[in-house]
Amino acid sequence: MRVAVTGGGGFLGSHLCETLLRRGDSVVCLDNFSTGDAANITHLLSDPAFEFQYADVSASVEVAGHVDAVAHLASPASPPDYLRQPLETLAVGSRGTENALRLALRHDARFILASTSEVYGDPLVHPQEETYWGNVNSIGPRSVYDEAKRYAEALSAAYRRTHGLDVGIARIFNTYGPRMRPHDGRVVSSFITQALTGEPLTIYGDGKQTRSFCYVDDLVRGLVALLGSSEMGPFNLGNPVERTVSELAETVLTMTGSQSEVKYHPLPVDDPVRRRPVITLAREVLGWEPEIDITEGLRRTVAYFASRPDQLAVSAAAIRGGQSETVPPAAVPAAATPSQMIPGPEAASLSVGAATMPEPSASGG
Ligand SMILES: NC(=O)c1ccc[n+]([C@@H]2O[C@H](COP(=O)([O-])OP(=O)(O)OC[C@H]3O[C@@H](n4cnc5c(N)ncnc54)[C@H](O)[C@@H]3O)[C@@H](O)[C@H]2O)c1
Repeated sequence: MRVAVTGGGGFLGSHLCETLLRRGDSVVCLDNFSTGDAANITHLLSDPAFEFQYADVSASVEVAGHVDAVAHLASPASPPDYLRQPLETLAVGSRGTENALRLALRHDARFILASTSEVYGDPLVHPQEETYWGNVNSIGPRSVYDEAKRYAEALSAAYRRTHGLDVGIARIFNTYGPRMRPHDGRVVSSFITQALTGEPLTIYGDGKQTRSFCYVDDLVRGLVALLGSSEMGPFNLGNPVERTVSELAETVLTMTGSQSEVKYHPLPVDDPVRRRPVITLAREVLGWEPEIDITEGLRRTVAYFASRPDQLAVSAAAIRGGQSETVPPAAVPAAATPSQMIPGPEAASLSVGAATMPEPSASGG
């Protein structure tokens, strides 16, 4: 199977590309590296079954040759990213999704959308089943992401109804693992970065708000299962084990042996208080459920972060006292991050081979 993966240079996208290649698929990865990192895919460039195409999918999505499936993951995903890029986030959720749908339609290909638990907003029912329609503030700061994804779901469903396109929708809940950026403002990456660098762990609110954390390998297995089915869903993909943010902080401190203290800050606007997926549908229809518990997942993630001390130090300075899932962190000096390897727009529409890609940095993924 030949699969086009938009956002394939990001955290989840790069793991998906890797998994597809491992099982024998060919992959065309499209990305503009607005939040991704070339270092995530540099190791794949020598694989003849892997092509990279620099593309802003909000502008257009063109792939030469046939594709059997399109996995549309392109979108800023962490709150600091989408708050920093509000219009780009709305564009990629709307125009970007339509461009990716059109690509699938041209090739009569399977299309899967990486939607999000954020479509439930600050949920009034708990835990969240797919039948719940959500509680989103359509003009709040997070709406640029939540409403873009809700629109993307609506558009995908309309393409299925109108054109009979083979669409599948994954509502992804908090996922963590290697290749998260230490300064991306998500709670797992921030806690690990802070713990490993001796900075205080920043908790917003009283720490009793809950999240459910899914390890990346489990999540990618779910996406691959959805890719292989002809079901639309939507399917919740996430780990149904719910934890408070305080519990997560404690686990990270214990696992890293860190002496960092914990500091509390006011809860940001529209920050959801509880999140837990009901995954019955994915279990029954896709035969999927998470297998990796938080201890093992965190162990692997901590090991990944710990192996990048230079990047950690810079990121810790950038998020110092300001880590939040809603407050954009200070910019990380480019010289110390792998994002310096981003190929520019001049590379658009080129298939970038190993020879033209920059070398991975020592701190890169
Ligand atoms: N990681 C999670 O916990 C999570 C949870 C829910 C949903 N998701 C969804 O999964 C997808 C991937 O998330 P992620 O965590 O890997 O985020 P990420 O930021 O690491 O990856 C997103 C990728 O999309 C690329 N991109 C963004 N706009 C683009 C554009 N206009 N053209 C081309 N490429 C573009 C970025 O450069 C990046 O490589 C996103 O759609 C996100 O909404 C992720």
